[in-house]
Amino acid sequence: MVRQGSAKPLFAGSIPAQASKNYLLVNTGMKSEEILKKYLNYYISKGHKQIPNVSLVPEGDSTLLFVNSGMFPLVPYLSGEPHPLGKRLVNVQRSLRFEDIEDVGNTNRHTIAFHMLGNWSLGDYFKKEQLLWIYEFLIEGLKLDPNKLFATVFAGDEYAPKDEESAEIIKEVMKKYGIDASEGVRIFPCGRKDNWWQRGESIGELGGPDSEIFYYVGEGSYEGKSPSENQDEFLEIGNSVFMQYRKIDGGWEPLSQRNVDFGGGLERLALVTQGRKDIFETDNFWPLIDRIQKISGRDYHESSEVKRSMRILADHMRASVMLAMDGVLPGNKDQGYILRRIIRRMIKIGRNIGVEKNIPSMLIDETVSILSWLYPSLKDKETGIINIFSTEEEKFFKVLSLGIKESEKIISKLNDKDFNDPDKLADLSFNLFQSLGYPPDIFLEDMKNKGKYIDSRGFNKAVDSKFKKHQELSRSGSEMKFKGGLMDQSERTVKYHTATHILQRGLINILGNHICQLGSNITNERLRYDFPNPAKLTDQQIKELENYFNDIVIRKIPVNFIIMPKRKAQEIGAMYLKNESYPDEVKVYYIGDSIEKAVSKEFCGGPHVQNTSELGGIEIYKQEKIGDGKMRIYARFK
Ligand code: ALA
Repeated sequence: MVRQGSAKPLFAGSIPAQASKNYLLVNTGMKSEEILKKYLNYYISKGHKQIPNVSLVPEGDSTLLFVNSGMFPLVPYLSGEPHPLGKRLVNVQRSLRFEDIEDVGNTNRHTIAFHMLGNWSLGDYFKKEQLLWIYEFLIEGLKLDPNKLFATVFAGDEYAPKDEESAEIIKEVMKKYGIDASEGVRIFPCGRKDNWWQRGESIGELGGPDSEIFYYVGEGSYEGKSPSENQDEFLEIGNSVFMQYRKIDGGWEPLSQRNVDFGGGLERLALVTQGRKDIFETDNFWPLIDRIQKISGRDYHESSEVKRSMRILADHMRASVMLAMDGVLPGNKDQGYILRRIIRRMIKIGRNIGVEKNIPSMLIDETVSILSWLYPSLKDKETGIINIFSTEEEKFFKVLSLGIKESEKIISKLNDKDFNDPDKLADLSFNLFQSLGYPPDIFLEDMKNKGKYIDSRGFNKAVDSKFKKHQELSRSGSEMKFKGGLMDQSERTVKYHTATHILQRGLINILGNHICQLGSNITNERLRYDFPNPAKLTDQQIKELENYFNDIVIRKIPVNFIIMPKRKAQEIGAMYLKNESYPDEVKVYYIGDSIEKAVSKEFCGGPHVQNTSELGGIEIYKQEKIGDGKMRIYARFK
């Protein structure tokens, strides 16, 4: 018996006493490292050369956000270009399928991040060798029970014939192991939906019929069962794609060469090799789950909700650490946006099992330990990754702490009828998200915590449709703006414009009346503001400034303008640029219910947002000294 996940020192103070139960993991099979070694050696012995495990961020291909399979970097070679290492290749490739996120946690097998074992024939060997070798590897190399192996093959359609050949080869191979693999008993022909693989839908994509390998992981006898009708009881552990077609307009044409593209999930192979029923109970996840049990004081098997939360955490930790390893930083677009979402989701999920703060950064060292056999240099990056995660956690906690008060205020004003109105609740939640970045799922949780019964499904549906509508609107908005040549006045730059006014006022309040605008520059991503001051801002002053700003956002102050004589505007204290010459009549933008009580008033052409609640929380992320007594700050929305 091997006891796992307990060798490391625990985090002082964060582990409740009841967590001292023994969580045993009986590990009967070989470790993932050994599985990989055997696989590579097996294919190397068959003349394959190993190719590298590349970054999750695709190089030179903007059509996909993440590398999602081992064949990703091989498209040109599958199309006929000679590969420098020859016609037989093998590797392990980290892969990410974000589209599977909804399944993660609910099943014993889904993860967004995984490793794909892959071997390829680039116009060299074909079905006979591929099917013989892969079954031989699984049965003789990994010692899987041949009685539990099942296969599907392509049933044929108008574009490509039924794959009789593969069915015949598998039957022959299985005979070697004393198994009668007849069609309909052990080999099942299926249609295009199940047994045809292509990377994408575009013209020019490569594809072909495939043959999937399933392992029986159910209870009792497998007699009379099939992978397509008993999906929970069978686990797909590999797929041999016979890539021999190219998509053309209205169909498929044969390629000049016939290729093999095999992919098999390392973590799934670990599940079956280690005799588990749950991928999260293998060496790839269990130490992490065990750590989560200790931190939270909860038991993985306690309830389906706890199990689900722990699975999501373990999967997302591996995904996010690998993304950080590949240089992705949390941000507002592309891969950075996904990383941000995953980290924030983990914080939220951590709260479901009673861990209020920082669960992602608490789990980094265990995640690094789990992955470092494959990525030895990950250990050197650990400190950097901890910094990235903690910064993101802090940002999110600011969003949360601002939002919680606002959310409480909103909820306290609702009556029973409102709580039965998913559309209204979604509206409120969407506004809260727009103004403060407060996530709808947390708003939902807040309402539930108040003992309210909420139709979660209806709420989520209504929120989704709000988001979609908003996206469509802003998309059509930006298209219209583009047509009108007003690209630079996008929604975001307008927001930064208003933000500049608020920050200027904040700086005056904090540093004094000598503050004035020496320069300013706005892009879609940030604002820059130059001002006279003897020194850079201290950390404390930065915090004060950010708090000042965020407070103005929460207070939902209207933004208005008035056109008035220049002299009058100067008298009432509106700010203006000293070196600028203004006409006699000026436009003054003010933030407040009235110009007298405004927190800020400035000579300005606009445009601006209509209410400060349209802005999100802000952060001062950089500052520099740009000359004697001249400082520059950079700020962006969180
Ligand atoms: N490229 C194939 C897959 O991802 C092997 O299933």
